[in-house]
Amino acid sequence: MNIGFVGLGAMGAGIVRRLLAAGRPVTGWNRTKAKAEPLLAAGMEWADSPRELASVSDVVCTMLTDAAAVEAVVLGDEGILSGLGPGSFYVDMSTISPERSRALAEAVSAAGSTMLDAPVSGSMATLERGELSIMVGGDGSSFEKVRPVLLDMGSKITHVGENGQALVLKLAINLSLVVQIISFCESIAFAEKSGIARETAVDAVLKSVIASPVVAYRAPLILEGNMDEAVFADVELQQKDQLLGLALARELESPMPLAALANEWLTATRAAGLNDRDFVAVHQVFRALGGMK
Ligand SMILES: NC(=O)c1ccc[n+]([C@@H]2O[C@H](COP(=O)([O-])OP(=O)(O)OC[C@H]3O[C@@H](n4cnc5c(N)ncnc54)[C@H](OP(=O)(O)O)[C@@H]3O)[C@@H](O)[C@H]2O)c1
Repeated sequence: MNIGFVGLGAMGAGIVRRLLAAGRPVTGWNRTKAKAEPLLAAGMEWADSPRELASVSDVVCTMLTDAAAVEAVVLGDEGILSGLGPGSFYVDMSTISPERSRALAEAVSAAGSTMLDAPVSGSMATLERGELSIMVGGDGSSFEKVRPVLLDMGSKITHVGENGQALVLKLAINLSLVVQIISFCESIAFAEKSGIARETAVDAVLKSVIASPVVAYRAPLILEGNMDEAVFADVELQQKDQLLGLALARELESPMPLAALANEWLTATRAAGLNDRDFVAVHQVFRALGGMK
C-alpha cells in the first residue's frame, strides 16, 4: 500500500518516521515545506499538493491542528478529495469535532472512497516507543484493510464504532486527562507550600498509586529547567479538545462539572502568559495563587 501523509507537525512527522522505519512507501505534504526536509532525507517522497498526494496513494492520512485545517486540505481546490482514487481510504488522525468529521466522511463517501476517523491518545514519547493508542471510527471492513498500516504507527488499536465515535471517545479521554493533570499540579503546589521540595514530591507521586501514564510523562516537566525543553501539547492545543468535549457534552446533556472547572484553569494558565508551555504549566498558576514565586 502506498501511504500519503498530510500534516508533518510534531505528531505527523513522528508517525511518518515510524512508517518509513517499517518499510512503508510514504509520500508527504505539509503547508510549511521546511518541516518535511528531515523526512525527505529519510526517504519520504514529496507531493506538490494534497490532490497530487492523494492521486498516488492507497491510504491518505491527515494529522492537522483542527477542523478548519482538515477541511481546507480535504475540500480545497487542490485538496485530497479531488485526488482520491476509487477504493482508496482516507484516515483523519487529527482531534476535531465529531460532527464536522462525520460531514467530511459523507463527502468522501459520495466521491467513492471511505473515510475513517482515527484520533490518537499519547504523546511524542508514547509514539516513539511504538505504544500510541489509535481509536478508529467508521466501516468495520475498511478498518480491517487499513489496520496493518495503523499497527505500524502504534500497537494499541481499538475499533470504536461508526464514523465520529472514535473522536467522541478521544474527547472523553482528554477531558479526564486534563482533570488528572490539573489535580496533580494542585497537589504538588500544596506539598511545596508545606515545605516539601518539588523534586521529592514529584518522585513520591511517581512511586504512588496516582502515577498514571500521563502523570509519569508530564510530571518531570514541572521540575526546574525542564519546562523550556518539552511541550507535549501547549495550553491552546489542549484547550481546543477541552472546548470540543464540553460543547458536545452540553449538546448530549451529559454533565461534566470536573472538566468544566478544569477548563477554567486552562484559561487562567493562558491569561498568566504561559500559552507556549505544555499545559502542565498550570502548576505555576497554583504556585502563584498560593503566594509562591
Ligand atoms: N501533540 C500531542 O501530544 C498530541 C497528542 C494526541 C493528539 N494530538 C492531536 O494531533 C493533531 C496535531 O497535533 P501536533 O501536536 O502534531 O500539532 P503541530 O505540531 O502544531 O502540527 C500541526 C500541523 O497542522 C498543520 N496545519 C495547521 N493549520 C493548517 C492549515 N490551515 N492548512 C494546512 N495545514 C495546517 C501544520 O502545518 P504547518 O507546519 O504549516 O504549520 C502542521 O503540519 C491535533 O489535532 C492534536 O490535537 C496531539
